Amino acid sequence: MQHLTLTRPDDWHLHLRDGDTLTRVLPHTAAVFGRAIVMPNLKPPVTTVAAARAYRERILAALPEGNRFEPLMTLYLTESTPPAEIRVARESGFVHGVKLYPAGATTHSEAGVRDPANVYRVLEAMEAADLPLLVHGEVVDPRVDPFDRERVFIERHLAPLVERFPRLRVVMEHITTTEAVQFVREAREGVAATVTPQHILMNRGALFEGGLRPHHYCLPVLKRERHRRAVLEAAVSGSPRFFLGTDSAPHPRRAKEAACGCAGIYSALTALPLYAEAFESAGRLERLEGFASHFGADFYRLPRNGERITLERRAQAVPAAIPLDGDELIPLRAGGEVAWRVVVPNGA
Ligand code: DOR
Ligand code: ZN
Repeated sequence: MQHLTLTRPDDWHLHLRDGDTLTRVLPHTAAVFGRAIVMPNLKPPVTTVAAARAYRERILAALPEGNRFEPLMTLYLTESTPPAEIRVARESGFVHGVKLYPAGATTHSEAGVRDPANVYRVLEAMEAADLPLLVHGEVVDPRVDPFDRERVFIERHLAPLVERFPRLRVVMEHITTTEAVQFVREAREGVAATVTPQHILMNRGALFEGGLRPHHYCLPVLKRERHRRAVLEAAVSGSPRFFLGTDSAPHPRRAKEAACGCAGIYSALTALPLYAEAFESAGRLERLEGFASHFGADFYRLPRNGERITLERRAQAVPAAIPLDGDELIPLRAGGEVAWRVVVPNGA
């Protein structure tokens, strides 16, 4: 297959940041994707509907002329989020989910949740308002090995939570393990997962290829090959519970190449071609459209996009770096190639 035309996709998990970084990265996503679920882990975090409204305005103002792209906003859940804010969020029409970061689990998660029991009243309000919960599924317990933190989070927190709130829609974000795949596959109705390109294209060996590779470091961290294969199989399975969420997370080069480097992989520049590579490797290109363009919209109860885009199987070179306000952004595959490219972007 040399060309693949599909419904314009959406990115159901994206970090856009703010200010100059926002202006730099937004066009990469907006050229291809119709909508994106925008993560709220700014500094300070987006904890209120008023803050989400203002952030949404800044995103729309940063869009290139003539580009149709809809940011789908989220709230950052804290232990002091008032349940009343959930009703305001639902009524806003632009807030589509609430993100649970375990405090200390990842970038800008300090204001997150220490104990899920402390947010039960908010979760009740979300269940009543039918506003989805988006979960970063890793424990922060230092006694738990970093490669086991997702599995242990499912056992300790996620499985009980999903049972306690039987009508709450839940997205387990950026799944990385066989245990997460199995949990989502077997869970009750209303439980789904996003899948990043890095977790289906790379295993943890990519962190140590000829030396330490900070640009392959993200959270949850890359896992063993058997986990990569399980997540890829889930993505290409055709199950509507698994859909596209890049977790593209820009950090300046200086913050990545540091003694204590930040977690985050910048994939937005070539996200859809990267997924096409992964689906092709599994012999399942025909399943890319469901994963990229249908299942997420259906889960979030939004209409599927009307436009179509076309991918071509012709390699593209990935720049070694992207300028970024006095620094640089290093994209996934920097200096290398991706086997596919988008030839008819932006619903043209
Ligand atoms: O690698 C990651 N980067 N994982 C996250 O959970 C957060 C993200 C970020 O905001 O940089
Ligand atoms: Zn993320």
